[in-house]
Amino acid sequence: MSKLWGGRFSGVTDTLMSQFQDSIYFDVRLWQADITGSIAYAKALAKAGVISDEESETLQQGLQQVATEFADDQFQIKLGDEDIHTAVERRLTEIVGEVGGKLHTGRSRNDQVATDIRLWLKSEIAQLRSYLVEAQWAIISKADEYIDVMFPGYTHLQQAQPVRFSHWLLSFGWMLERDKERLDDLSKRVDVMPLGSGAMAGNPLGIDRLFLADELGFATISANSMDGVSDRDYLIEFLSWASIVQLHLSRLAEDLIIYSSQEFKYVELADAYSTGSSIMPQKKNPDSMELIRGKTGRVVGSLMGLLTTLKGLPSTYNKDLQEDKESVFDTVDTMSMTLQISRAVIQTLTVNDGIIYDKMDSTMLATELANYLSAKGMPFREAHHVVGQVVQKAMGLGQPLNSIPLAVYQQFSDLFERDVHKVLTFHRAADRHESHGGTGKQAVRNQLEALRTVSEFDEFDNTDQE
Ligand code: ARG
Repeated sequence: MSKLWGGRFSGVTDTLMSQFQDSIYFDVRLWQADITGSIAYAKALAKAGVISDEESETLQQGLQQVATEFADDQFQIKLGDEDIHTAVERRLTEIVGEVGGKLHTGRSRNDQVATDIRLWLKSEIAQLRSYLVEAQWAIISKADEYIDVMFPGYTHLQQAQPVRFSHWLLSFGWMLERDKERLDDLSKRVDVMPLGSGAMAGNPLGIDRLFLADELGFATISANSMDGVSDRDYLIEFLSWASIVQLHLSRLAEDLIIYSSQEFKYVELADAYSTGSSIMPQKKNPDSMELIRGKTGRVVGSLMGLLTTLKGLPSTYNKDLQEDKESVFDTVDTMSMTLQISRAVIQTLTVNDGIIYDKMDSTMLATELANYLSAKGMPFREAHHVVGQVVQKAMGLGQPLNSIPLAVYQQFSDLFERDVHKVLTFHRAADRHESHGGTGKQAVRNQLEALRTVSEFDEFDNTDQE
């Protein structure tokens, strides 16, 4: 099969060189976008009077047939099909004959590939967005279910203050909310059509680019053909977005790995999302979460890779740009899995509130105790110091902070009164934090409702999620 660009050449491409440069093995996944783009272009060519309406019709029907072959898994890649664009045009010409050669008039693979990736990515983004929102919904449902479960809030991985389990879980819902905003924002810059930029100088045939954009469902068209063919910023943004989402998911994963370990046992992951060991019969490993944590590496790696590819690239199209695809494809596949698995793990995990309660250290009430003293007039700094001494005493006595006798408290300050024991419960301590965004029951209810609203939870049909 002769090359699209074979006219100028008398020698043949080395086999190793073909293997090296062919992108069909991965860009074949752009077939639908490529054909959709070509159908629109065939219409635009007729509209500009470059080809007749009959020719355009023939091209469109031929392209439809190529699409059917792909959809039915009947398309055969042949030697010489170096990329998806070449493959589609080669097959089109086999089907419709000579007129197939008119499709590419005024078009370059440079504006074609740039258009294809954007078209393809737009639909992938819509899918990823729905997976992200579904993960939020799983968070909302679990948070609602366990709203009364107390939980140790950690700083430095040391028990710090009692919070609600839901408060901890919802914190990830807000991370995902920001991720959703970022995705919506970057989507605007994906939704720009470069077709009609040609190789880089533009289109000489009076092609109606706005018509093309309308046909293809793009919001807008690129303003500079040189930028149009080489802009890959939106892929950098997409990979940055994915990296941030992965960071969030990996932190959730790490928490769940810790919380499901023997030492904690706060939560149990469903069997469906855990695996066993080939040698240790007792093991139940949180592989789902470990893989989510681990896959962060490849997503961040893809971002670094593309940044490096683009750095210092001379103006407009260079073959280096072909390297944009595999890492983006891999990232879309990875994110699609990690978002769905995260959603499922959250949906199916169970919380061992009894064990959590037993493991909550009474010293987490120390801040409450200091607040108690300052409410009775002692400056907080002094109260902090006094309570530090009480904590030391309780540890010496080997007794929980909230059950040492009143007389012992009073050795440190006569502001301690009979009501002190009532103050010192995890629920009381948590519920005092009713500031907006705090861990008090009402405050958590409010943030739950707020997240429900922004995540469009009401559109969520509970029945088909289990
Ligand atoms: N396979 C190429 C890519 O992915 C298509 C564009 C090729 N353009 C060219 N002038 N060689 O970037």
